[in-house]
Amino acid sequence: MGSILPSRLRAKENLRNMVSETALSRNGLVWPFFVKAEGRPEEVHGKGITRVPLGEVEAFVEPLYELGLKSALLFGVPQRKDGAGSGAFDGPVQSAIARLKRCFPGLNVITDVCLCQYTDHGHCGVVEDGRINRGKTLEALSKVAVSHAEAGADVVAPSAMADGQVGALRRALDAAGFEGTCIMAYSAKYASTLYAPFREAAGSSPAFGDRAAYQMDFRNSREGILEGELDLAEGADILMVKPAMPYLDVIKEFRERFTRPIAAYQVSGEYVMIKEYCRATGTDETKVALEMLTCIRRAGANIIMSYFVPEILKTLERWP
Ligand code: PBG
Ligand code: ZN
Repeated sequence: MGSILPSRLRAKENLRNMVSETALSRNGLVWPFFVKAEGRPEEVHGKGITRVPLGEVEAFVEPLYELGLKSALLFGVPQRKDGAGSGAFDGPVQSAIARLKRCFPGLNVITDVCLCQYTDHGHCGVVEDGRINRGKTLEALSKVAVSHAEAGADVVAPSAMADGQVGALRRALDAAGFEGTCIMAYSAKYASTLYAPFREAAGSSPAFGDRAAYQMDFRNSREGILEGELDLAEGADILMVKPAMPYLDVIKEFRERFTRPIAAYQVSGEYVMIKEYCRATGTDETKVALEMLTCIRRAGANIIMSYFVPEILKTLERWP
């Protein structure tokens, strides 16, 4: 036996590449953005978290599609908000889905299915007597999902954390003839402090209370597994963990336990933390983003949602 020199394989870049275990690929990257009815494009917290007017949605996606964008995740910013979140049934998201599918038939269009962007109280469901009414919430979410499927969405992603939401959506989609529409379940969605920039972009901060009654407790991982098991039983095609970076252990658990594809969402607060870190220290943003996304991939996520996707697509172009 020769001497043990583990650094032998690290001494040259080509050898390092040869033995590397993890790589990002365009196929698994999903870019989230917001669609609004009109006005000018706006960027919350610098470039990256963007509200796009419906009329410019194709022009906005075009350069990224050219760079190899495969999947987009759409959120809506409605013109009006009310108690029932009725703007969710018919608005800029439905129109944007149709326009994107017409212009870029190869793009996977994924939509967030929730009410918090559309309700005047900012909660994810229908509120009655200060509490979420589960039955009415499931009914509303189902209606939203079917409207997205009708517009041409490939995947709907229920994020309201209402018990039974995946099963309700599956039944409603099947009944409406959309057996082929996939469901990506926000299974382990934690009550995180890292959603602030998103809520600013969507104007969706709860007017009273918080989301701890329906989102998960960050002290727990076993609860996340239970949510994953239930979502699977209800017919989820893809299971998601959110946020991503502080929850790599949950991603790894999901990967080991479930044979369905696993998605992880690097949320708006994670994005801004990295941006601010790079600004403060002069570190290259793209390099940090590459490291963080690769680590999320290494933990076991096949699919990654990130506001850094445009940056990453540009570097993948230059990488082997
Ligand atoms: C809607 C939803 C939220 C996010 C995704 N879907 C906000 C929330 O739960 O308050 C957050 C994503 C991000 O921060 O980028 N329920
Ligand atoms: Zn919500």
